Amino acid sequence: MVEYDEKAAREMERSYIAPEIVLQRSRTLEALALHSGEYVLDAGCGTGFLTQELAMAVGSGGWVVGVDNSPAMLELATQRCQGLPQVHLKQGSVEELLEKKETFDAVTCTQVLLYLSEVSQGIAEMHRVLKQGGRIAVLETDWRGVVLSSTDEALSRRMFSAWDCAVPSPNLPVLLGALLRAQGFTDIRVDAIPILNTSYAPDNFSGAMFEWAAHYAQEQGVVTEEEAAMWLSDLAKLGEKGEFFFCVNRFLFNAVKL
Ligand SMILES: C[S@@+](CC[C@H](N)C(=O)[O-])C[C@H]1O[C@@H](n2cnc3c(N)ncnc32)[C@H](O)[C@@H]1O
Repeated sequence: MVEYDEKAAREMERSYIAPEIVLQRSRTLEALALHSGEYVLDAGCGTGFLTQELAMAVGSGGWVVGVDNSPAMLELATQRCQGLPQVHLKQGSVEELLEKKETFDAVTCTQVLLYLSEVSQGIAEMHRVLKQGGRIAVLETDWRGVVLSSTDEALSRRMFSAWDCAVPSPNLPVLLGALLRAQGFTDIRVDAIPILNTSYAPDNFSGAMFEWAAHYAQEQGVVTEEEAAMWLSDLAKLGEKGEFFFCVNRFLFNAVKL
C-alpha cells in the first residue's frame, strides 16, 4: 500500500505543479461553483494545493477544512495555506470524519477514494457532513486505462501492475456513479479529463510521475533496480526522438445531496 511519508509527500509535490494537474484543479473548482462565504471540506487534502484554491474562492468569510491521515502531507499543506485564516487543517480519516452532520456547502475528494478499503463508508461520511442541496466533486483516475509508448510493453505492464496491487480500487471510476447514487447523491454528472503528454519533460506530469512509479514498483519487488532504470531510460529516449506518448483519464464526478 502506498504510504505518504515525508519523502513521498515531497516527490508528489512535483507532479502537482505540472500544467495538466493545474488544469485538473481548475476544472474541479469550476464544478464546485463556490460562492464567497461558503463552508467547504477537502477530504484527503494532501499537500493543500486545492485547499489553498478553495480558500481563495470562498474568501476570508468562508471556512475550508482540509482532512488528511498523513502528517507529512499536512505539514506541506500547513506551509502552503499559511496566511489563510479560513483554512483549518486536521489529521483524520475520510472514513470517519469528526465534523458534525450538515456542516458543509460543498465537499471535494480528489484522488483519495482509491486508497480506502471501504469506499462506500467514505462516501457516506461525505454525504453526512454535507448540507441538503450541498455539492460534491470527486476525481479519480482509471489506472488500468494507461496508454503509453514503450519499446518493452511487458515491462510497462509490470510497472503498472505494481500500482494495481498498491491500492484497493485501481479502477474506481467505473464504479463511482453507482456508489454515489447508493449513498443518496443525485444529479450525478461525469466528465473525463485526459492527461496527455507527447513529451517526456521534467516539468510535465510524466516527468514527475514515472520516476515515482518506477521507484515504487522497485520497492514493491515487482521490478529490479536495473529494470526500473532501463524503463525510465527507454521513456527518456523515446522523448528525445519525439516518440513519447502517454495518456490516462481522470474522471470528475459531480453530484448533489437531496
Ligand atoms: C494522491 S494524494 C491526493 C491529495 C489531494 N487530494 C490532491 O488531489 O492533490 C492522496 C491523499 O489521500 C490521503 N489519504 C489516503 N487515505 C486516506 C484516508 N483514509 N483518510 C484521509 N486521507 C487519506 C493521503 O495521505 C494523500 O494525502
